[in-house]
Amino acid sequence: MPEGHHILGEKSAEASSRPAVYDRLAAHYDRAFRPLERWCLNRWRARLLSELPEGGRLLEVGAGTGLNFAHYPRGASGAASEFSIEMLRRASEKPRPADVHLVQTRAEQLPFADHSFDAAFATLVFCSVDSPAAAFAELRRVVRPDGVVALLEHVRPGGALLGSVFDQLSRFTVWLFRDHFNRRTAEEAARAGLRVERIEQHLFGVVQLIICRV
Ligand SMILES: C[S@@+](CC[C@H](N)C(=O)[O-])C[C@H]1O[C@@H](n2cnc3c(N)ncnc32)[C@H](O)[C@@H]1O
Repeated sequence: MPEGHHILGEKSAEASSRPAVYDRLAAHYDRAFRPLERWCLNRWRARLLSELPEGGRLLEVGAGTGLNFAHYPRGASGAASEFSIEMLRRASEKPRPADVHLVQTRAEQLPFADHSFDAAFATLVFCSVDSPAAAFAELRRVVRPDGVVALLEHVRPGGALLGSVFDQLSRFTVWLFRDHFNRRTAEEAARAGLRVERIEQHLFGVVQLIICRV
């Protein structure tokens, strides 16, 4: 286990300094997402996590209720981190690899030493982190050089019309869930110094699998 961690139950002062919107959503999250999971999300999760090395030290950021645990590669160890204690509590009820620890922390300030992980990943998280730039800087720091950073995110689609629809939608979703529907996540990752190797587009570019290297 990487050093300097706060596991579930040992609340970090930083992580619990303000209430998370997701604390309120946690009880309904799995049920609300079930139709989407069946239609496409579960398949995309499996696809994304197949990019991670077997037997690697992994960091999941914004692990939520643990819906990715079923797809972790064989022999995974490391940390599933999450900001909301209520989401984390639900995650703790799902089976996960024995050497993967639950850690309450913000993505923008990770309590891990430099180069602690072989790879990091996040699904549907960079739409809601307060500072994508700070979170990507942290991923660059804690993942070893040439390690993978893999993302499944909904983003601002290209095209003037669809893009501006998402700009308008975002005003509403930020107010409601602090969820930005017009983030340009691959560009943010590149701006933070990650090498964006591949982007797979789904749903007219609204959903992207973004594969980067440190
Ligand atoms: C839409 S949910 C996705 C959860 C999970 N990754 C999934 O695919 O089901 C977004 C998650 O990101 C977490 N989150 C939001 N901002 C965060 C931050 N700054 N640091 C860590 N986690 C954060 C939320 O608490 C929430 O659990």
